[in-house]
Amino acid sequence: MDNLIEAIKQLKKEKNALILGHYYQKGEIQDIADYVGDSLALAQWAAKTEADIIVMCGVHFMGETAKVLCPDKKVLVPDMTAGCSLADSCPADKFAQFVNEHPDHTVISYVNTTAAVKAVTDVVVTSTNARQIVESFPKDEKIIFGPDRNLGNYINSITGRNMLLWDGACHVHEQFSVEKIVEIKREHPQALVLAHPECKGAVLKLADVVGSTAALLKYAVAHPEKEYIVATESGILHEMQKKCPDTTFIPAPPHDSTCACNECSYMRLNTLQKLYDCLKNETPEITVDPEIAKKAVKPIQRMLEISAKLGL
Ligand code: 13P
Ligand code: SF4
Repeated sequence: MDNLIEAIKQLKKEKNALILGHYYQKGEIQDIADYVGDSLALAQWAAKTEADIIVMCGVHFMGETAKVLCPDKKVLVPDMTAGCSLADSCPADKFAQFVNEHPDHTVISYVNTTAAVKAVTDVVVTSTNARQIVESFPKDEKIIFGPDRNLGNYINSITGRNMLLWDGACHVHEQFSVEKIVEIKREHPQALVLAHPECKGAVLKLADVVGSTAALLKYAVAHPEKEYIVATESGILHEMQKKCPDTTFIPAPPHDSTCACNECSYMRLNTLQKLYDCLKNETPEITVDPEIAKKAVKPIQRMLEISAKLGL
């Protein structure tokens, strides 16, 4: 493993490559990445890098977003089959039809979508900026929000909006069990529940803090004296534990205790060996149809501009 890590570092230098990693990656990938962050940070780092190659250690839509922002750079992913059940729950042709049926609506899409969905979107959001971007529109603006129904319902509830929601969801975040979280709370009455807004409403009701991966991490780092039950993909515990070594973090369990359903099977496809191979062979490479990319870049840029104004 040490040899592999050294070889990756060497290749990265030789090829002027930047390795970006999401918080749901295996720990060893997070440790070797130049930057580890949430979806917004990954897009922001990709947009401003001067590297020749970006290796996106995350899932396909994250690589696509980087490629759309940096069409002249080579964007590699360790495993091309690392998809996203939430992005899959929103096929571009069906979403475009839904948009066409509501021509008076502004279209806000979560970043967990394909570039083709972003191409029919007015502004992209992530869980870090969704609330502020929705609130940047007038109260009576008619809005379509897709594809995550849980995030959409949550944003509706905290902003008093009535956005029209696409009926999509993430297979990992839908799995958390309210009963099991309540059980853990009984054993750890002081523990706070940290939850990602892709969780079902019933889980979010139990949560003390709802936020993106970066927001949940930030909260824990600011209050390391507490104990936490963490209702999001369990990869985030790696960085939480690294930043707060003396804090107890308990991963929220899924309904089915026989499966590792609180791990994203797509995110976990990436390995150090695949990262090495992709840097060495410069494949698999993300490509995006130039016509789609030309349309998709606008709502992504709009998100980055609003986020920069908001200091996010
Ligand atoms: P974040 O942007 O909060 O990191 O979320 C990404 C994701 O895929 C959540 O499932
Ligand atoms: Fe997609 Fe869910 Fe995996 Fe996030 S955790 S990448 S939303 S499947």
